[in-house]
Amino acid sequence: MPGEAAVPPAARWVVESCAIVPAEARKTGPVGGVGGVRKKFAWGLVFGVLTLLLAGCSAELPQNTFDPAGPTAQTEKDLIVPVLWVALAVFILVEGSILAISVKYRHRKGRDRMPEQIHGNTRLEIGWTIAPAVILALVMVPTVSLIWELDAKPSDAMHVTVRGYQWWWGFEYTDPDMTVSYGSAGPIVAADTLVIPVGRTVELDLQSAGGGARNTDGTPDYQVIHSFWAPRLFGKQDAVPGQSGHIVFSADAAGTYWGQCAEFCGLQHGRMKFRIVVLSEADWQAWVANQKSPAVTPTDDLAAKGMDLFLNGAGTGQCIACHAIGGTAATANAAPDLTHFAATAHECFAGCNWDTYADGAPDLEALKAWLRDPNAAKLGAKMPDYQLSDEEVDALAAYLYSLT
Ligand code: CUA
Repeated sequence: MPGEAAVPPAARWVVESCAIVPAEARKTGPVGGVGGVRKKFAWGLVFGVLTLLLAGCSAELPQNTFDPAGPTAQTEKDLIVPVLWVALAVFILVEGSILAISVKYRHRKGRDRMPEQIHGNTRLEIGWTIAPAVILALVMVPTVSLIWELDAKPSDAMHVTVRGYQWWWGFEYTDPDMTVSYGSAGPIVAADTLVIPVGRTVELDLQSAGGGARNTDGTPDYQVIHSFWAPRLFGKQDAVPGQSGHIVFSADAAGTYWGQCAEFCGLQHGRMKFRIVVLSEADWQAWVANQKSPAVTPTDDLAAKGMDLFLNGAGTGQCIACHAIGGTAATANAAPDLTHFAATAHECFAGCNWDTYADGAPDLEALKAWLRDPNAAKLGAKMPDYQLSDEEVDALAAYLYSLT
């Protein structure tokens, strides 16, 4: 042990924490007393654990992996749970040993000499090399077989291409029976809510689509990695620029399932949410028929004025530079397709930043706040602030909510 004077400040703190210094020096140490630091650390730990425990007490857990609502999430849970038990056993064994050894061989008053120094134990080392290898090999069997199972492409699945934008999700129904009846008869396109029928196997093709705007060479800008995750239906898969991700799943019951981008993708990653709306077969048929038809032309004066603003310029810009509304001159695809903005299954907007309906009634105020200043509602949003007047905001909101 070198003399106290030769120990640099950082090492000195470690030495003092290890309590190899006399009690007197500990009280007046350079960090205001080791006891104080320990107390703060202990309280921090207590608060941290309490916060975690309380966070788990919520009655509503819409994104609970342990409450699967379909076969994909179920098989994943069936793998996670046993692996967690194995991990828990290893954790208790390892951490328990560390604690037991720390307590048993701790420093005691009047014992200032260094403990006996030992170097290696061949039998132990071989043991703790082989045991983890055996455990990992056992865990690997069901893990790898599930990876193969989830990678299978069923022949009867409905196909949807999922595109991650900054920061919202777009959905394109690519099967031949899912084309619209207007324009060039392209696929049904939706944003923010992925609508599917109950029990039907769905195969998702995950793509990263950038921020909506285009570079001068036509390629999408802001192409970053996102991750598509609806915990009650399936585990997360990345949407990587230039690559294709793959998820096969189905939902056992009608209802709404919440999802979330699970890969940090910029400023509003935390609010890049989505919902999967699962409809009964009859509701699904009605939804598809409605999605295939063009947008309704409003008869109401205010909404008609809104349509005119939308197509011919509002404030300092043009909505049709980015958005499409089926059956009108708006055909751009850099921002959410608004053809059926007010359909009830379209529950939320702008990365599910806000709900389109509140207690069953159109939430006009949420939409108006968005139109007035998108960046105030969602900092960094690619939707420009067109400095709309109050009259223009009212007319546009009336128009968008006429698009059922
Ligand atoms: Cu998209 Cu995080």
